[in-house]
Amino acid sequence: MSKTIAVVGATGAQGGGLVRAIAAHPDGGFTARAITRDPSSEAAQALAALPNVEVVQADCDDEASLERAFAGCHGVFAVTFFWVDFSPEHEMAQARNMAAAAKAAGVHHVVWSTLEDTRHWVAEDSMPTLQGKYKVPHFDGKEEADAAFREAGVPTTFLRTCFYWENFIYFGLGPVRGEDGVLAITFPMGDARFPAIASEDIGKTAYGIFVRGDEFIGQTVSIMGEALSGHQLAEKMGKAIGEEVRYNDVDADLYRSFGFPGADEVGNMFQFKRDCEAQYVGARENDLARTLNPELQSFDTWLAANASRIPLG
Ligand SMILES: NC(=O)c1ccc[n+]([C@@H]2O[C@H](COP(=O)([O-])OP(=O)(O)OC[C@H]3O[C@@H](n4cnc5c(N)ncnc54)[C@H](OP(=O)(O)O)[C@@H]3O)[C@@H](O)[C@H]2O)c1
Repeated sequence: MSKTIAVVGATGAQGGGLVRAIAAHPDGGFTARAITRDPSSEAAQALAALPNVEVVQADCDDEASLERAFAGCHGVFAVTFFWVDFSPEHEMAQARNMAAAAKAAGVHHVVWSTLEDTRHWVAEDSMPTLQGKYKVPHFDGKEEADAAFREAGVPTTFLRTCFYWENFIYFGLGPVRGEDGVLAITFPMGDARFPAIASEDIGKTAYGIFVRGDEFIGQTVSIMGEALSGHQLAEKMGKAIGEEVRYNDVDADLYRSFGFPGADEVGNMFQFKRDCEAQYVGARENDLARTLNPELQSFDTWLAANASRIPLG
């Protein structure tokens, strides 16, 4: 009998990758229960049309709805939604709801999408403290929320993700044309490399973790597609779009002052990746992501399929 995996965030990037991975392996022994707040939405209906997929309504703010949705499931893929309201406390509350519901439903394996707490490495006075106690709230709050799963006593794999290359398409981080007419990507990263991934590969890796059974329960699995510097990203992007793209390295304080919503958060994030490159990249320099997901994309592979979708500002 196939094992059901409840997938939170199924209509989004990470969860969607897992639902599509399960659908792509009809003999893999799993079915997906795609969780959405609105089963009638176009995105939910597209998932419902896939083989081995059922769509079920639940809301991470409503523990009882999660408990109903997780009933009878072997596994749960859990993710939170920082950018909705920039609140690590909300992420913690939703993690507690998912952990409690998984415990009550007797789920055998949770794969929790998380990130490291940058405060282990960032020097206190090197960047502004945000929201009273965080350096990079969407990182720090996720490792804090790891405790929700540990304390609930649910068997959990802690899947540490990284920057999606799709941020060049959807997150306003794509190349912008300067006054000289030349496209440039701008990060406060110096020459440091930072890990990134095709967002679809996060779900595919989670699939690989479920396929391996209990092997990674209690463990942290840190993944990336590839770690590249700003210069390398710009060069590869330029080749793929057929036009020069420059890398514009800026001071982190200047980046934080750019004024877009979350500029301080994103500025701190890049500065963490620059200042703590050895720890952050080092944790992901392993073959595990490719072992778990043989289709893992490099930036060049991702560009071959997606370069035409990058807006050229
Ligand atoms: N962007 C990056 O580079 C990056 C890198 C690493 C980690 N992350 C983290 O990834 C997380 C977001 O994951 P994602 O990018 O896969 O999300 P996403 O693509 O924005 O989609 C999230 C989906 O979750 C659902 N959702 C939102 N609120 C919900 C709620 N209260 N209850 C149940 N479902 C809810 C929505 O589906 P419905 O509307 O269908 O309910 C939505 O389609 C964030 O916490 C972020 O920090 C992002």
